Amino acid sequence: MFHKELDAFPEDFLWGSASAAYQIEGAMKEDGKGESVWDKFVQIPGKTFKGTTGEVAVDHYHRYKEDVKLMADQGLKAYRFSIAWARVIPDGDGEVNEKGLEFYDNLINELLKYGIEPLVTLYHWDIPQALQDKYGGWENRQVIADFTRYAEILFNRYNDRVKYWVSLNEQNIFIKLGYNMAAHPPNVKDEKRMYAANHIAHLANASVIKRFREMDMPGMIGPSFAYGPTYALDSHPLNQLAAENNEEFNAHLWMDIYVRGEYPSVVWKYLERNDLTPDVQPGDKALLKAGKPDFMGLNYYQTATVEANPIDGVAEGKMNTTGKKGTSQASGVPGMYKSAENTFIEKTDWDWDIDPTGLRIAMRRINSRYHLPILITENGLGAYDDLEADGSVHDDYRIDFLKNHVRTIQEAITDGVDVLGYCTWSYTDLLSWMNGYQKRYGFVYVDREELDEKELKRYKKDSYFWYKKVIESNGKEL
Ligand code: BG6
Repeated sequence: MFHKELDAFPEDFLWGSASAAYQIEGAMKEDGKGESVWDKFVQIPGKTFKGTTGEVAVDHYHRYKEDVKLMADQGLKAYRFSIAWARVIPDGDGEVNEKGLEFYDNLINELLKYGIEPLVTLYHWDIPQALQDKYGGWENRQVIADFTRYAEILFNRYNDRVKYWVSLNEQNIFIKLGYNMAAHPPNVKDEKRMYAANHIAHLANASVIKRFREMDMPGMIGPSFAYGPTYALDSHPLNQLAAENNEEFNAHLWMDIYVRGEYPSVVWKYLERNDLTPDVQPGDKALLKAGKPDFMGLNYYQTATVEANPIDGVAEGKMNTTGKKGTSQASGVPGMYKSAENTFIEKTDWDWDIDPTGLRIAMRRINSRYHLPILITENGLGAYDDLEADGSVHDDYRIDFLKNHVRTIQEAITDGVDVLGYCTWSYTDLLSWMNGYQKRYGFVYVDREELDEKELKRYKKDSYFWYKKVIESNGKEL
């Protein structure tokens, strides 16, 4: 659809930016914080680029005032951050650590002082290690009660100041990479265990949303889902079918359950045929149905292009975590789909497809299938940046990337999609889980390298000033 004129962004549009506790805070053992699964996982040789850890990260824990001041000077309207479960309840299910709650009190108050709306993520992948050791974390139903208790503590503490809550961040990523690719904690490669853990994570997500309703919480809650729409390589019917498969197993499996409380029938039949069904107990269905979110949080980075994959075809290939373009390998699921080259699209140095139109398609599909408002909770470009001698960073490639994506949001709004806000990933540079510190996403450059923390000084990139204008003009000046 081409429009002669685009609708304006809503007046209360949340122009934001985002982060996650493990990737920015550091202070890994300070003020009573317990160990998380990521604190432990990164100690396994070869799991992260150059063995990087979040021990210091970008030291946001000590520099949050400086970081929030940068946001305020830029005019940011919203800031999405996550709370580290192990900071609040160090062993996951025991005593509450008042110091941990205080840190987030201070951060929230600092944001509100400048009129910045806090968007709080309850869980961004860092379950306390103690729960992993005690009962296997997401593989044990006890986590449903423990996660709900943790959420309730946060709801009670911050409900007077926080209106937007994200339940689980990218359940599809932490479950797939954690339980079927051994690329995230708990370092498992087992399809059956993956579907079992995923079912329990769904129940935990629903339980927290149900609790939110029971407590009559003001505001809105929803999960953040990593969705990249699928394209078929071409109009060959088998390639189209492969794209359908990819949507069913990489998108509907999660979003259908969030919104409708039901597994897609194609996925369920596959699980039955392959002896992969999770243990579904009486009451699960009712709980899943009670967990309908208020919005769909959308983390969008790229689309996927696929083609048919025979039953003895390609399986999981290597990811590019080094930033050497062209080093990722084709991957797929035998009998379902495999990745294909999209020749219309440029790639980043980490081989991620750059596709602004894909964001519009993502919003359109979510809107048509689920009829929920959309909050874009992440979108951004991971790239190398150069800090010049005068402290400037000329990241015109990031400005182009963001500009083109913001434009497609405006097109989607004009199409009829309800969009609450847009959070770029990320605010400052941060630790990119497996890719070290060289893959930078922020508006604010943080001067550190993988093996050299330097002074962690902050520098405003050109994109910082670009976004300032976008916010000031409510999206009129891109
Ligand atoms: C999302 C995560 O998957 O993508 C973020 O929610 C992450 O935490 C971002 O940093 C970018 O991924 P990566 O692997 O480039 O850091």
